[in-house]
Amino acid sequence: MSTPSVIESVLVENRVFEPSEAVMKGACISGMDAYSALCAEAATDFGGYWARLARENVVWSKPFTKTLDESNAPFYKWFEDGELNASANCLDKHMGTPNENKVAVIFEADGGEVTKTTYKELLAKVSQFANALKARGIQKGDRVLIYMPMTLEGVIAMQACARIGAIHSVVFGGFSAKAVQERIIDAGAVAVITSNFQMRGGKELPLKAIVDDGLGLGSCESIKTVMVFERTSTACNMVEGRDVTFTEALAGQSTECAPVMVGAEHPLFILFTSGSTGKPKGVQHATGGFVLWAKLTMDWTFDLRPDDVFWCTADIGWITGHAYVAYGPLAAGATQIIFEGVPTYPNAGRFWQMIERHKCSIFYTAPTAIRSLIKSAEADSKVHPDASDLTSLRILGSVGEPINPEAWMWYYKNVGHEKCPIVDTFWQTETGGHVITPLPGATPLVPGSCTLPLPGIMAAIVDEAGHDVPNGSGGMLVIKRPWPSMIRTIWGDPERFKASYFPAEMGGTYYLAGDGAVRSIDRGYFRITGRIDDVLNVSGHRMGTMEIESALVAKTDLVAEAAVVGRPDDLTGEAICAFVVLKRGVPTGDEAKAIAKQLRDWVAKEIGPIAKPKDIRFGENLPKTRSGKIMRRLLRSLAKGETITQDTSTLENPAILSQLGQAY
Ligand code: WTA
Repeated sequence: MSTPSVIESVLVENRVFEPSEAVMKGACISGMDAYSALCAEAATDFGGYWARLARENVVWSKPFTKTLDESNAPFYKWFEDGELNASANCLDKHMGTPNENKVAVIFEADGGEVTKTTYKELLAKVSQFANALKARGIQKGDRVLIYMPMTLEGVIAMQACARIGAIHSVVFGGFSAKAVQERIIDAGAVAVITSNFQMRGGKELPLKAIVDDGLGLGSCESIKTVMVFERTSTACNMVEGRDVTFTEALAGQSTECAPVMVGAEHPLFILFTSGSTGKPKGVQHATGGFVLWAKLTMDWTFDLRPDDVFWCTADIGWITGHAYVAYGPLAAGATQIIFEGVPTYPNAGRFWQMIERHKCSIFYTAPTAIRSLIKSAEADSKVHPDASDLTSLRILGSVGEPINPEAWMWYYKNVGHEKCPIVDTFWQTETGGHVITPLPGATPLVPGSCTLPLPGIMAAIVDEAGHDVPNGSGGMLVIKRPWPSMIRTIWGDPERFKASYFPAEMGGTYYLAGDGAVRSIDRGYFRITGRIDDVLNVSGHRMGTMEIESALVAKTDLVAEAAVVGRPDDLTGEAICAFVVLKRGVPTGDEAKAIAKQLRDWVAKEIGPIAKPKDIRFGENLPKTRSGKIMRRLLRSLAKGETITQDTSTLENPAILSQLGQAY
């Protein structure tokens, strides 16, 4: 029997949760009339609307006079002649205000040690780090690869790059040496900022050694500096002349550093993400638009208030950690929690215990984390949310993948005690910040729906030709007009940018999100039905099927051919399922298990452990049409464990279907 997919179970959703008086009172956007008024302002004076928001929410050293330049669409420019600095918008602007001595970051380490850093102290640390970067010759426009654990130092490194106008490219600490090397080459990075080790669940795991391996793979001559944070006291290999510890680099550096003002379109960062082809794309974001939206969505989506303690559990290696850890909370003047480690260490109650310990009021996490903690909580009352005092919570958030109504209801009842609205925020690496999300003090909530676009985001659901489809019909999610925090280009590949996101068949100016969606008939609420391209979403992490296929076939001594598809998984949302044709015959039993393990380890080495296929199935061939096309639809059915009822008469070799039934 196949498990009902998330999508099927959402179809029958008809519960609605109206915002309570208590939540609406004093909210940044209170009530649907306030929401509609903003939408109307954007619809009647699009340029004026964004200009007003940019003036009110960003500190400009030189004000902009032009709001939007569409002359070279889809290469849009926002606030182009304005100048600002992202770090100054996060730190300097709070000096001389009541925020100066407010705690900016409560950091809780893997082992439980807590450190608190005020805005003033953070400014000093970022400035000192910026001076250390300058001392190593790093300048405005240089690319700096950051491969760090979730620590305050990771955020400091990002802010310090922004302070001097260097462009950071953060690579998640779970990616492989090869992934590090590829990103260094693609970005043309001049420096790497890393850590000797990272701490995860009480274990010390190497990071610097992976950087060394990556650099050792070749073609990384652009790297002149490797800065190494001493997260633990264990020594690591250091290359004379190239590598420097944080202690050495920071010694004698002043804690003052004037921010370098940059044009609004100056790239703030590049973040690599998976697309539908083999090679990850370097998504490039611009300083002005990104800072505006990170700050404003903190106010709008999270209804941030001065006393809030905000906690986004994302790693800085992902876009969520960029917008809602490294920049947004600081630009909005929040006190935020940053945690190192994993949600299940020292026990699976860590999130709930941390909420109690630090009196967290806004909690933002991923459905996968919720689903796995539900499982633990139901098995052991000691790690159930009820074992912690969660009364400080005001607002809950979800991000990264569709949240199934069952998980939504559990989160709503057991964590929020039916008092906290859940903002199910839909967005992407490319959108730079939330685009479709409920507003806590305005939007009636429907479990499993990200509800309505933020004011000014012209989201719609269209068919292949770009025509709107009626509510209730599925189609492709697009955003019809540009918005400030959108992707500017794919680093070094403008043609791919155009081709991937702005299909000519739709006129060349609609942003194609790559997700399928449907709007409800009654409210016009958006529900995301999943990717329409070859991108998988595993535990909220984006993975390209082609990327994994390329990794598998790169194991040339073993693999002849491979096809990768996703299948629904109760815990991780989607699971990776690989169909593999070996150069030798089809293995069975223990031998098949051993080869499957070998292939998983190989993929972990090529891409990272997050890309390991959950199921591996062997066959002497893949199901293909007579013209040689792999029948992916059939593979998806097989992966789900469905009985094949489709017509297989066009198959070259129907007999292999039975071989491919067994997963290892
Ligand atoms: C998916 C993460 C449903 C979607 C911020 C999107 C979601 C991809 C949601 C982007 C949500 C993200 N509901 N699906 N609330 N949020 N997604 O670039 O498929 O890592 O295209 O950005 O995650 O993943 P990315």
